[in-house]
Amino acid sequence: TSTLPVYTLEEVTKHCSLDNGVWVTYKGDVYDITEFVAMHPGGDKILLAAGGALEPYWALYAVHQQDHVLEILSEYKIGVL
Ligand code: HEM
Repeated sequence: TSTLPVYTLEEVTKHCSLDNGVWVTYKGDVYDITEFVAMHPGGDKILLAAGGALEPYWALYAVHQQDHVLEILSEYKIGVL
């Protein structure tokens, strides 16, 4: 069971830079990936998704359709939409 907070899309969109924190959404969950940005194998491209949904980008970059990528993402979950 989850006791994580519920966030609005508006709140997520405010977290769109390394200064304000980098949040993304994926399948209705909210992630704070600020600490992961510097470790991303695909470099700064990850910031294109900052403050919004991962789905359109992960549809383009199919390298993310792997269990190990979802495991990394799961470590950064902070809430739900
Ligand atoms: C590669 C994670 C967002 C572009 C990767 C890899 C991981 C990863 C683990 C290496 C996969 C492998 O080779 O097995 C993530 C996570 C993201 C994220 C956790 C979000 C929280 C994005 C976004 C973009 C992107 C939004 C593009 C706009 C790429 C590219 C590569 C890559 C181009 C290939 C890099 C290379 O092999 O040269 N990502 N990614 N990623 N990612 Fe991401």
